[in-house]
Amino acid sequence: MAAKNVCLVGAGNIANTHAAVLATLPSVAVSTVVDPNLALAEAMAKSLGGAKAFASLDDALAAGGFDRAHILVPPPLHDPIATKLLNAGVSVLCEKPLAETSAECGALIQLAASKGVTLGVNQNFIFNPAFRKLLDAVRGQKLGRLRHVNCIYNMPLRQLAAKQMSHWMFDKPLNILLEQAVHPLSQICALIGNVTDFGANMRMRRCNSRSAATTPFGRSPRFATTASSSPT
Ligand SMILES: NC(=O)c1ccc[n+]([C@@H]2O[C@H](COP(=O)([O-])OP(=O)(O)OC[C@H]3O[C@@H](n4cnc5c(N)ncnc54)[C@H](O)[C@@H]3O)[C@@H](O)[C@H]2O)c1
Repeated sequence: MAAKNVCLVGAGNIANTHAAVLATLPSVAVSTVVDPNLALAEAMAKSLGGAKAFASLDDALAAGGFDRAHILVPPPLHDPIATKLLNAGVSVLCEKPLAETSAECGALIQLAASKGVTLGVNQNFIFNPAFRKLLDAVRGQKLGRLRHVNCIYNMPLRQLAAKQMSHWMFDKPLNILLEQAVHPLSQICALIGNVTDFGANMRMRRCNSRSAATTPFGRSPRFATTASSSPT
């Protein structure tokens, strides 16, 4: 076995990004790809130079050959899949959100500790180079004492633009928070530490071609959410 053999659980949209990044790391090899859409798993496994493809995680675990896994599946599956992997002694990097409830998150953290394996969650927005610069400036008190954080997240929402309304994030209002608001919230937590209270407001704008030229949201439908908090 190579030094670090990785299993990708899920071969959809974000799996392509994980696979591309892992391919740049010399001491890491993707050995296994799992997706119930076996054709998708096989195509990704082939593009990764001979990884094994499986339609189920149970089959992949039975075959072995990896000691860490990236969970790249829709959020309701994060908890059961992470639980299975951690119980098998496999370290896990899970896409955000780690799970749907804080109780599930707490149980996963405890399970990882009891098994002596690593559990991480991919909050990639806190590693954005511009954000790291801001974080350094705040931590170094280059901007004075921090009193209030106002974080504006204004990004095109691919699934909305594609009218993919069957997506999990549109099933109930909470899901959009778990799917999208974790990005600005992760930045707020990085800036001020644990958040003790929380409120949210959300708006969606659809721009017609006349107003598109003047709106800050551009021509395509965009999703905007704001979140703010103050250090306690
Ligand atoms: N960090 C980011 O910026 C970012 C961006 C996009 C998505 N994500 C996260 O990545 C996760 C996946 O999102 P996506 O856009 O790739 O979704 P997707 O729908 O494109 O892909 C999910 C894949 O999981 C597969 N799958 C379903 N059940 C499975 C199972 N039991 N075992 C293995 N595979 C299974 C599906 O067949 C599908 O191919 C979500 O948690 C999402 O929040 C994060």
